[in-house]
Formats: sequence, C-alpha cells, structure tokens
Amino acid sequence: MALDHVHAPAAASMPAPAERDSRMPKLTLSPGFVRSMQTGWGDADRTPVLPVGAAGAAARHRQRLSDALPGRRVAVASGRAPMRVNDCAYEFRADSDFLWLVGAPIEDAVLVLDPVAGGHDATLYLPAPFRPGDDGFFASALRGELWVGPMPGLGEYAEALAVRTRPIEELVLDDAALVGGTPTATGPAAPALERGERSSELSRVLSELRMFKDEWEIAELRSAIDGTVDGFAVTVREIPAAVRSGGERWLQGTFDRHARTVGSGPGYATIVGSGAHAPTLHWVRADGEVDPEALLLLDMGVERRSGYTADVTRTFPASGVFSPVQREVHDLVERSHRAGLAAVGPGRPWSDFHVACMEVLAHGLDDWGLLGVSVDEALSPDGQQHRRFIVCGVGHHLGLDVHDCSTSSYAAYQGATMAAGMVLTVEPGLYFHAFDETVPPELRGIGVRLEDDLLVTSAGAEVLSDALPIDAVGIEAWMRDSDSRAPGSVS
Ligand code: GLY
Ligand code: MN
Repeated sequence: MALDHVHAPAAASMPAPAERDSRMPKLTLSPGFVRSMQTGWGDADRTPVLPVGAAGAAARHRQRLSDALPGRRVAVASGRAPMRVNDCAYEFRADSDFLWLVGAPIEDAVLVLDPVAGGHDATLYLPAPFRPGDDGFFASALRGELWVGPMPGLGEYAEALAVRTRPIEELVLDDAALVGGTPTATGPAAPALERGERSSELSRVLSELRMFKDEWEIAELRSAIDGTVDGFAVTVREIPAAVRSGGERWLQGTFDRHARTVGSGPGYATIVGSGAHAPTLHWVRADGEVDPEALLLLDMGVERRSGYTADVTRTFPASGVFSPVQREVHDLVERSHRAGLAAVGPGRPWSDFHVACMEVLAHGLDDWGLLGVSVDEALSPDGQQHRRFIVCGVGHHLGLDVHDCSTSSYAAYQGATMAAGMVLTVEPGLYFHAFDETVPPELRGIGVRLEDDLLVTSAGAEVLSDALPIDAVGIEAWMRDSDSRAPGSVS
C-alpha cells in the first residue's frame, strides 16, 4: 500500500523523519490527524527473534576477526533492501559478513570494531524504530511500527546480542576499513558509509575466516540440508500435479513455500528444469511444462533463518522410471560423483575432487565417441574438450552464501588443501543441449546433475545430504516413497 493512501486534507506540512530515506514520501497531513496519532497506543513485544545460539556464535566470530586484524578499526554494514518500485522494497537480506559477526539481520546497521588493548570493542550502530509518539510511527514505511510491525530497537538488541549499541547518526567511520552494505547507500547509514573506505583486504580476511565452520554453523547447515531433503519429498510428490497443470513453476513454488515455512526461504533462486531445460545450468525462469517422459532436474536449498543455506541437486525421471538412455547418462554422472565424493578429505588439494570428477566424465564421453580427441588430450590444460558438456565448476564452499567465501584469495580457496570444518558441494553433471548438433539425437535435451553437501572432518568427509540416494535405482525407489517421506504425510 502506498503511503499517500492516507486521507490527507490540505493542512500542515510534516517533514519526513529522515529526508535521505528514498522510501519516505513527503507527507502533508492534517494537524488533527497527527495529534490523534500521538496517544492511545499500548505496549508491544519487541524482543528480537533470533536463532538459538546466533548471538554467542557471532561473539566468537568477532573474536576471530579481532585476532586476525590486531590494531585495525573495521566496520561491517548490513545493507538495506533494494527498491523494487518507488516506495516498495524487496525483502531485506542482511550482508553475510554482518550476519556472521552480529547474528541478526538488522537493516541499515553497521558493526564497528575499535582496537583497544588486547583486542577490540564492538559497537553496533543502528537506526531507532519509530514508535508511538514519533511521527514516523505512522508515516515511515521503512521503520514506522504501523507499517512494519513492532521492531526491536537499540535497547532490545543490546540485551539480546550482548553488544553495545549506539544510534546510527553517531557513526563516524574515519579510518575504518569498511565492507558490506551497498555502494550506493541511501537511508540513515548513508552519510557515514559514503565516507567509508571500502576494503578488499577486510573482505578477503572475512571470507577466509568464514571458510572454517564452527559447531554451531555446522548444526545450522545440517538443519538447512535436512529441511531441503524434506523439501525434495514435498516437491517430488507434486510432479503429477505439475504435469497436469502449472509445470515447472508449480514445483518451484512448492519448494519455495516449503523453504519459506521451515526457514527464511530458498537460499538461491530455485532451479527446476524439465526435459530440454535441464541442461540449462541456472534454469530459474522455470516457465515450462513438466514433460512426463523427460528428466526433471531440481537444484534447491533451504536457507535457515540464521542465513545458512543448503545446495542440493537431484535429477528425477518425471515418470518415476529412467528410460535406458536417461539411465546411461545418470549412471555416468553417478560414477563421476562417487569419484568426486571419494576425493574430499583433509590435507587433499581442493582441486582433487574436480580432477576426479572430470576424469570419469572424459572417459565416459570417450566411450560414447563424443570427445573428438583422446582422453589424455581432453584432460590436458590445453584440451578440455569434455567441458563442452559441463562448462561449470563441480563444487564450491557453502555457508551463509550458496557460493560461500567467494572473496578469498586463490591461495586460500582453489589453491588450498581441504581441512576439517570446511563445508562444500560436489556437483558433477552432463548437459546435452537440445540444439547441440554434435551429439546423437537421443542424447539431445538430456541434463543430469548430482549435487551433495559435504563436511570435511579430521578423518575424512561426511556427506550431509546423503538422505537422498544418488543411484538411479535408489532414486526410483525414493520417488515411490516420497509421499510418505514428505513432512506431515500420513503414512
Ligand atoms: N546450486 C546453484 C549453484 O551451485 O550454482
Ligand atoms: Mn552448487
């Protein structure tokens, strides 16, 4: 609802509470109306609703950052929701570094770590909500409680997060290294953020710290993955309905509703590709039918309210049974996947699982006469002809971002060895596009990906998403039972 729907007979001009707030239309409201809004409002519960353990985990993360950057003043901004159209914003999702250090998604807030003897002092700068007695209470679509509901403020967050809080208007960044937020900031944090010095070094340090998950983060990821497995069951049992009507979007909406109910929503745009759409790596458009004879690729992840997300892919025969050619492609991807899973472990180069997956795929493509060169040439740095059928990578770090830790240095990420506490995906696939004239017609329009989420342990690796089978026979059996596996089913 737009703010100017408030009936506003010509009268006194009331200044908007924050002129820089682009979401705040200028108002002209009658003095009588303004006066009547000042009184008569009871109390509301403004206790922040935080994931259990989030505040403690954030405090430990702040300590790790403090240890990594002794003597440095650092600032991390939460950001603000992008506008969709004039005064209507998209839903807010806090910057991941901010979530890691604060544990709560507070819009327009900035965490500052000031160096002191023996470490850092943390201060969280945030805007005060507009409550009864403030004009913004009814006039601010951003922070007015009549618009957004009861909002925790400085006092409530100080108590819940055990951190000092100050009004955002007091923020001065000066020499602080800054990350987070948006480069073109508006809103109450904007004046300070505009003068802050963006630091790629701070971004890298945070990214590399976030690569090693602690027990609380691993528990969050486990829950995200378990919720995602449930979401696969909920979605797969809707395949017959989607075939009848609604198509790919019926399934996408089914998973998104599940993710929104058990968590904050999908951790990335849900990929649902039927038939010729399955080979398109990020088919988030999902505007096709579901072909009952074709493969259906589902790449989906629940994001927890803490921000941690899963990222899992399975490819199903929509009919419930793989055709011989679908099965052959799936079997090859499964062999590649198993080789990749077996190559994950502490002390092994990050590239090991990539190499393991690719070797199997190249040999399989050669057996089918699709390489055009020898396997050795394809696997050489100057060859890579097999990548025609898999142009993407076969894994990435996973955490608060689906492609987590992306501002790490090459040495800390692709050039590093795996170590206990890392969580990553392994996701080989084969993608034969419908318009690829180099493959036989029976392969055209077949896309298969298998994606699991793994925790590197001191002894090896744990596949966190192994409640979903990876072999064709297991997938067919799992589909038959998906009805009873879906949460809430009566079995
Ligand atoms: N599941 C989306 C991706 O890894 O790109
Ligand atoms: Mn992935």
